[in-house]
Amino acid sequence: MDPPQTSPLSPRKKRPRQTGALMASSPQDIKFQDLVVFILEKKMGTTRRAFLMELARRKGFRVENELSDSVTHIVAENNSGSDVLEWLQVQKIQVSSQPELLDVSWLIECIGAGKPVEMTGKHQLVVRRDYSDSTNPGPPKTLPTAVQKISQYACQRRTTLNNCNQIFTDAFDILAENCEFRENEDSCVTFMRAASVLKSLPFTIISMKDTEGIPCLGSKVKCIIEEIIEDGESSEVKAVLNDERYQSFKLFTSVFGVGLKTSEKWFRMGFRTLSKVRSDESLKFTRMQRAGFLYYEDLVSCVTRAEAEAVSVLVKEAVQAFLPDAFVTMTGGFRRGKKMGHDVDFLITSPGSTEDEEQQLLQKVMNLWEKKGLLLYYDLVESTFEKLRLPSRKVDALDHFQKCFLIFKLPLQRVDSDQSSWQEGKTWKAIRVDLVMCPYERRAFALLGWTGSRQFERDLRRYATHERKMILDNHALYDKTKRIFLKAESEEEIFAHLGLDYIEPWERNA
Ligand code: CTP
Ligand code: MN
Ligand code: MN
Repeated sequence: MDPPQTSPLSPRKKRPRQTGALMASSPQDIKFQDLVVFILEKKMGTTRRAFLMELARRKGFRVENELSDSVTHIVAENNSGSDVLEWLQVQKIQVSSQPELLDVSWLIECIGAGKPVEMTGKHQLVVRRDYSDSTNPGPPKTLPTAVQKISQYACQRRTTLNNCNQIFTDAFDILAENCEFRENEDSCVTFMRAASVLKSLPFTIISMKDTEGIPCLGSKVKCIIEEIIEDGESSEVKAVLNDERYQSFKLFTSVFGVGLKTSEKWFRMGFRTLSKVRSDESLKFTRMQRAGFLYYEDLVSCVTRAEAEAVSVLVKEAVQAFLPDAFVTMTGGFRRGKKMGHDVDFLITSPGSTEDEEQQLLQKVMNLWEKKGLLLYYDLVESTFEKLRLPSRKVDALDHFQKCFLIFKLPLQRVDSDQSSWQEGKTWKAIRVDLVMCPYERRAFALLGWTGSRQFERDLRRYATHERKMILDNHALYDKTKRIFLKAESEEEIFAHLGLDYIEPWERNA
């Protein structure tokens, strides 16, 4: 943004262009040898930056055109310290020293004084953390000694729900889904990784130059990005959205209990709409699919946070009626801070219960809810957990804990929200709920595994295998070199075992 024209430091409009204005100062012009200044163009603009650079050089300051590891002072305008750090992190240049991060007011005072002025708190840019967790240590006081590149692993990136590149990530999500429907696994992974890395960027991509140095963006992906930059849309995505197979699979898999196999079958039989499928007498549906059709409207409408909280209260009540010391934690997308979900996920664990009590809990809860008329469907999957089994090597393996996939009949009077669907005399809503019961000593692994996102989990496992020679799954972490299981009481300990910086749940929206 340009500064107001009244500012004494604004470039005059018709100032004749001076050649050499953008050239670095020659060594004899430099009065202050210890100071190497770099001015950030972001939010300042090219003109104002060039103007300030010229002024500072005339006063004997060494001002660099490009960022390099010799820079000692980084000056920015309308950027926080975190903004500058984020910008630095996506530059390919390694900044090995610890430059000062300063507001432009410091440089303007220096120019005015004709010499470096003291840096005080009002000049120093504040590095803030984006979250308000009071247990967090304070903001880092200095730059990390080496500004890191973006990692190819989602578990080494912080991905909040604040996605600056949705125009691109929507496109890659659709392409990935289409590959999934066509069982084209390699392309699916390529597109999912591209979408994931773009979701983690703190800035919007506006030119191909912005994609330099970002991992997981191969030539195919870059072509699509370029097309979207130029035309505002991708022809490939447009073709997929108009594709009959994609449209049908999208529709069929939106029914609870319908996966790729069933969709393929219905598509091959010539079905294109749900009403035709539903009314066909020759088709046999599973119990799950019948429930899926019966409560279709409610289930596709997504769960709001208020509804999830209402379910949470009822889950805790029921669980603690049988195991008073049990912990019930909402996991999945809601733990990552999402405002909407396709279901509500809960992890249940109890420090004091016996194996038998643990094993019977979910069935007891189902019986109680059935008696109260709160259950529309449930499928209880018995545990196949074994303490000494090695973790699974597959990145997408299902876990062995006892769990229950159910459809809850949520009385709407329990929902603390004004926008609920009370209209039309509706008194309840069907909500998909997943309950998982895990042994107390495995709760950290289960919590990490059930918090997601899927891409974050995949990359955690890939990272463990390829970078640490360890195997991680929802039950355990195994060190292949030492041939031991690594115990953990908390998610933080698992990250520490893996040598990873801790990533908060709301930063795992990869
Ligand atoms: N998960 C798992 N094993 C399963 C199902 C799910 O480990 N059989 C994990 C996945 O890692 C996933 C998390 O549990 O990230 C939650 O799954 P899911 O409810 O499908 O996804 P959410 O991220 O909660 O997204 P949504 O809001 O759509 O429910
Ligand atoms: Mn979920
Ligand atoms: Mn789920």
